[in-house]
Amino acid sequence: MTTIKPLIKWPGGKRRQAQLISSIIMAKDVSEEFDYYEPFLGGGALFMHLKQSGALKGEIILSDISERLIAFHTAIRDEPEAVIETLDDLRSLTLDDYYEVRTAFNEADVEGPETAAMFLWLNKNAWRGLWRENKSGGMNVPKNDKLGALPNAETIRAVSEIYQGVTLRCEGFSDAFTFANKQNAVFYCDPPYVPLKETETSFVTYSKQGFPMALQHELAALAREAAAEGAIVVISNHASKLATETLYPVEDFEQHFLKAKRGIGVRVDKTEAKEVIAVIGG
Ligand SMILES: C[S@@+](CC[C@H](N)C(=O)[O-])C[C@H]1O[C@@H](n2cnc3c(N)ncnc32)[C@H](O)[C@@H]1O
Repeated sequence: MTTIKPLIKWPGGKRRQAQLISSIIMAKDVSEEFDYYEPFLGGGALFMHLKQSGALKGEIILSDISERLIAFHTAIRDEPEAVIETLDDLRSLTLDDYYEVRTAFNEADVEGPETAAMFLWLNKNAWRGLWRENKSGGMNVPKNDKLGALPNAETIRAVSEIYQGVTLRCEGFSDAFTFANKQNAVFYCDPPYVPLKETETSFVTYSKQGFPMALQHELAALAREAAAEGAIVVISNHASKLATETLYPVEDFEQHFLKAKRGIGVRVDKTEAKEVIAVIGG
């Protein structure tokens, strides 16, 4: 099966690990029609993989705290033809037009197909595919050094099809857990990671991405609660001791380890691991 990939590159995207994470989920005792929650959606690589493999037959609720990101996915789901039309107007642009597009994007309404097309163009042309916003929500990444390829109309339509019937919400993960139906549910959580090296952890309480340790603890606690109510919760993180011993101890969580080898997630033992996939419930 050729799997359609996310339209956008997103920092920490799970495109290359989707097969492995999906096999970890499906090896659990999941019911035929489980509800699927992904509260740190980003580009949605795992959701897209699971949906195309036919694994998702229940409700699908995808959320992220980024308003612009959720507005983008919503426009692709609901107005693909209008996104394609605006994107066609952007196809002839070069990197010399980058700052003009960025300004137009920052001044436009957050929602709608025109903004979504600009989001896509900027995502392909921003420095190393980064996405960063300033305090007032303006995208502020400089331009890349080469013009990025834009997806064609057919691919956008195919992605829109994959998102049909899916609920998209802009919210923090704790709301996503609070309002979820926990029985018969699977949660895949891909938060901004804790620092990889232990030496960093003794001094740093905030990760570089601005996700405080308190939120890592809150997520682990919500995962335990949801599992106690019948859910299966899967969380990706760096395989630092902070994650493997403090947040997701083996007494309560199953741990799978992997390392990125030539960009592809491969299973390894704990000593050479870069990432952990912790599972609770089921
Ligand atoms: C590592 S990325 C997820 C990448 C995604 N799995 C993919 O394949 O593209 C982390 C995501 O968490 C979101 N995020 C950060 N803080 C959050 C919070 N408190 N609640 C919900 N989402 C949050 C960010 O906007 C970002 O999209």
